[in-house]
Amino acid sequence: MKTSRREFIAAAAAAALLPKVASAEASGVRTGRLVRGRKINIACVGCGGKGADDVRQFSGENIVGLCDVDFARAQQTFAAHPKAKVFRDWREMLAALDDQIDAVVVSTPDHMHFPVALRAIEMGKHVYVQKPLTHTVEEARRLLLASRRHKVVTQMGNQGHSNESTRRMKEWLEAGAIGDVTEVTIWTNRPVWPQDKQLPGAQDVPATLDWNRWLGVAPWRPYNRAYMPFDWRGWWDYGSGAIGDMGCHTMDAAFWGLELGAPTHVSSEVIGGNEYSCPKGSVVTYKFPARGNRPPVTLTWYDGCCKPKRPGILPAGERMPGSGQIFIGSKGAIFCPGDYCDSAVILPESRRVSFVEPPKTLARVANGHYQNWLDGIRGVVDAPCSNFEHAVPLTEIALLGAVAVRSRTAFGWDKDALRCDNPAAQKFISKTYRMF
Ligand SMILES: NC(=O)c1ccc[n+]([C@@H]2O[C@H](COP(=O)([O-])OP(=O)(O)OC[C@H]3O[C@@H](n4cnc5c(N)ncnc54)[C@H](O)[C@@H]3O)[C@@H](O)[C@H]2O)c1
Repeated sequence: MKTSRREFIAAAAAAALLPKVASAEASGVRTGRLVRGRKINIACVGCGGKGADDVRQFSGENIVGLCDVDFARAQQTFAAHPKAKVFRDWREMLAALDDQIDAVVVSTPDHMHFPVALRAIEMGKHVYVQKPLTHTVEEARRLLLASRRHKVVTQMGNQGHSNESTRRMKEWLEAGAIGDVTEVTIWTNRPVWPQDKQLPGAQDVPATLDWNRWLGVAPWRPYNRAYMPFDWRGWWDYGSGAIGDMGCHTMDAAFWGLELGAPTHVSSEVIGGNEYSCPKGSVVTYKFPARGNRPPVTLTWYDGCCKPKRPGILPAGERMPGSGQIFIGSKGAIFCPGDYCDSAVILPESRRVSFVEPPKTLARVANGHYQNWLDGIRGVVDAPCSNFEHAVPLTEIALLGAVAVRSRTAFGWDKDALRCDNPAAQKFISKTYRMF
């Protein structure tokens, strides 16, 4: 991976933020260890919102550390785990509990996934990181390299990847259910949070919140309720808009089922928004090249106020859902209403009736996405299904879409060099980091 001077400085600044762990320095590269014959010791960063659910899902293990910048928001989770040590600063938690933890769960807003996950991985901790894995494409690639170097067990929180329906979809596509697929259209009802806003003014910081630590590596800005909780998704400094929020869920079936790899070209049409706030709506078009004997694919994404035309192959009377996807092939189409492929249907009816369900060639995920990560840490499965070898290229696709929206440009993409052929887009492939 080539790194420009600017990117190198950004990464060095990020690394400088991170506390050094003496034993890690002395023993060289720390690697993840399998845990057998006992519960897994887990520390969690971000305990309100989705983090509350994530901690609950792992509560059959030993929750030894809980970190949140807002003790009011984390209160219920703290109360459910009275034996866990609580922290406001993840750096302090990782340093203090280093020899007591096997694994770390990262459920903060997106802009903090990378610094927390990178530090945990460098300490040889297994990581479960919410989707999208990171805030920039460069961060995703760095986490992949770090996870390989430190041999840790990884899982991104795109739980739909563990679903039966995602596996069935891939088997259908591989069995030629609709022939050669050349087009995929995906649309979402997100954002369901404010976007296309002007920067708000300052408000008093709530007494329970450490605003400086919430901002973390993001640029300094006065507190306003408009940013958090949850609504950070609509601000470029913390989230990546609708495509960043949902892309790792709803593009997964196409990415995996069609083995899309990386796009070579990405373009956007954008309505509203500004340099701080994500837009009212966007359309992103990706070009994926031919793979083996599979033809090139054009994947088109719609969000917010931008809606696709009703596909002509949809039967009369079939409602056009708020979110969905449709795969168009040489012999028919697969229509999936909703965020996943649970209700996937082959069209037209004649094709559906003549199609013979293929054998289940792909392994099924026993007991769901969370248990799948724990099974990886115990060595019960070789690797969780959305480990970083899968999650990173998928995240990169979603975030490249966000780059096209944010820069309002089109660009060619060279995945090996991590470079856009358009400087206006390239500047969003990485970012700079605030010391806090
Ligand atoms: N997999 C899914 O279906 C799913 C669903 C919702 C959210 N998510 C993901 O979960 C993550 C969190 O989203 P959310 O909606 O819960 O956000 P949120 O703002 O509602 O909650 C985030 C929690 O993290 C805490 N936090 C923020 N910064 C922190 C820091 N630096 N250190 C420690 N704690 C910090 C907050 O105080 C809060 O308790 C995001 O990455 C989001 O994309 C995934």
